[in-house]
Amino acid sequence: MEQQGSMMSGVVEGWGRRHVLGLEGLTRGELVAVLGTAAGFGEVSRRSLWKRQDLRGCVVANLFFEDSTRTRASFSLAASRLSADVLDFSAKGSSVSKGETLVDTARNIEAMGVDVIVCRHGRSGASAKIAGAVGCAVINAGDGQHEHPTQGLLDAFTIAQRFGRSDFDLSGLRVAIVGDIAHSRVARSNLHALRTLGAEVVLVAPPTLLPSGLAGEGVEVSHDLDAVLGGVDVVNMLRVQFERLSGPAFPSTREYQALYGLTVARARRLGDRAVVMHPGPMNRGLEIESGVADGPRSAILEQVTHGLAVRMACLLLVCRATGVVKV
Ligand code: NCD
Repeated sequence: MEQQGSMMSGVVEGWGRRHVLGLEGLTRGELVAVLGTAAGFGEVSRRSLWKRQDLRGCVVANLFFEDSTRTRASFSLAASRLSADVLDFSAKGSSVSKGETLVDTARNIEAMGVDVIVCRHGRSGASAKIAGAVGCAVINAGDGQHEHPTQGLLDAFTIAQRFGRSDFDLSGLRVAIVGDIAHSRVARSNLHALRTLGAEVVLVAPPTLLPSGLAGEGVEVSHDLDAVLGGVDVVNMLRVQFERLSGPAFPSTREYQALYGLTVARARRLGDRAVVMHPGPMNRGLEIESGVADGPRSAILEQVTHGLAVRMACLLLVCRATGVVKV
């Protein structure tokens, strides 16, 4: 019976968690459950005409304490493609300005009958804190410099799709993550997902933006982008997060661009089938040149498209885990 329901819903079994707080510690089976379920959504994630009914009667609350374009819009659309109602909350203009705490805010939102809280916050651990205080499911949409699990998942999905790995086994692929690793929750979530799925990772950054202790099995570090480019299948460029820099991390933006910017000239070092990614928002002309961002190797807009299917999968799987839906 359970099996039949699963087949009908297109869910790939293997996920049992109430929350998606980070990718660290998740098993390959858990990652494949999310990615495989996302793959099953296919066209439905791209056309509102073919809405699914899985989350009818459910409410998804976006609790965003930090700015966002892609992630927030993507979660809202993902929820509505599953027929859930969406409650959009911004810290700006809320009682947070009157001193209401994070936990009080989350518990009040939950008290309105919310099934999933999607949270973005500038502090690492904010989503975990909410998860410890509410009964509903919580999905981390980026917490400080800690993790951005749905971005890590959609990046892994994009790589698997580009290289025809329908089983999400990324063995034999080498991925460079380049730029402001120090402040990047995207880098951390990518690292966990890619390693667990079998890819090799090389982290490339100036010494000031590359924390120590990240190298390990299957993970190399380098300060020389030119030396790395010829040997990678994917290059994932990170935004320089000026808002998180406490002091100057490099002498000038001109020097950063000269050493770590993916210019059209530098991208010629990449192998024929290599793919360029960026989580957005981009500092065009700094970490990536427009000719590369908008060029034929770029998978940047595919990443955004796949974000919808991945977030639909996360929403559905946590709602199954909490028992809100029985598909
Ligand atoms: C990232 C984020 O907010 O963590 N963007 C995103 O969600 N696509 C990366 C960034 O801000 O640089």
